Amino acid sequence: MFDIKYFPGAKKFWHMGKMYDWNTVNVHVMSHALHYGSSVFEGIRAYDTEKGPAVFRLPEHIDRLVHSAEVMNMSVPYSKAEIIDAVKEVMKANKLRSAYIRPNLFYSYGNLGLVPKASPVELTIGCWAWGAYLGEDAKEKGVHVLLLPWPRIHRSQIDLTAKIGGNYVQSNLAGSYARRQGFDEGVFLNLEGRIAEGPGENILIVKDQVVITNDKRESILEGITRTSILEIAKHLGYRVEVRPMTVEDFLNADEAFFTGTAAEVTPITRITDGREMDQPKSEWKQYIIGSGVPGPITKRLAQVYAQVVRGKFPEFEKWLTYIYDSPEDAAAALEESDVYHVTNF
Ligand SMILES: Cc1ncc(COP(=O)(O)O)c(C=O)c1O
Repeated sequence: MFDIKYFPGAKKFWHMGKMYDWNTVNVHVMSHALHYGSSVFEGIRAYDTEKGPAVFRLPEHIDRLVHSAEVMNMSVPYSKAEIIDAVKEVMKANKLRSAYIRPNLFYSYGNLGLVPKASPVELTIGCWAWGAYLGEDAKEKGVHVLLLPWPRIHRSQIDLTAKIGGNYVQSNLAGSYARRQGFDEGVFLNLEGRIAEGPGENILIVKDQVVITNDKRESILEGITRTSILEIAKHLGYRVEVRPMTVEDFLNADEAFFTGTAAEVTPITRITDGREMDQPKSEWKQYIIGSGVPGPITKRLAQVYAQVVRGKFPEFEKWLTYIYDSPEDAAAALEESDVYHVTNF
């Protein structure tokens, strides 16, 4: 039995066209991806709306999944339309009203040389009720981040527009390090010494009422949440600038926040500069963003984002893919569905 403490509500997963009980083991331990990180994945969320559960920007996520697969030289065994149908199927099978959805394409069992020449590509999709990445409290109060001593992998070294499993080793190490040092999350600079991104989040700042963020030239994954927030900000009448952000820009920002499918919009209220690893921790300098609490533009964007993803903002309903054909079908199918107490990651 697999404990579902960190996967509330998980009952079934989809693998190569079939639905399996959560406890099924159908991947060999000698699968290529398990050894070398030769997988690509997506992190997607579905939200409860008045018309039943809806997936936020599903086609864009599947486009990115297929793009990532191309970067990994994978031939994808399903069309985009088939993957979208599979996501809907797994949501229905788990009877969830809101969920985090994780498709993963990976080089499976075949050969274990570094080049997966005899390893087939397989697709699996799971979903469960996952809470706020950095905690609900973080969304209200903001987080304290650490400027990390290691630069982000550079875009000249590996294509960072792809969500490749192996790339996340750096995120794992950095995220663990920041938490061990007592911070909520880390922030990577890039090799140029400017702000890159969090281990699994983009960074936006606000200065003199302008919403500012960087782009892929700064060695980041241009997140779908980031792009959505930029569109929402423009719609609300804010000025938006996409340009490199220096460390000074970040430290002197009026407001700052993370965006990501998992983190949604999470305010950043304190920054500690831990770039010099050899310096004693007691000498690391701490900076307060604005007045030390989430700023008004961050709060507004977070609030509108929360409405948009739940179908409460008609202009952006185009970003939702409903799981069921009608609200009545959704209500009937989910009559007996449980409400889960979500944990964070
Ligand atoms: C490295 C990295 N940057 C940024 C993001 C945010 O992207 P998105 O908003 O598409 O979830 C993620 C999460 O997918 C990520 O892993």
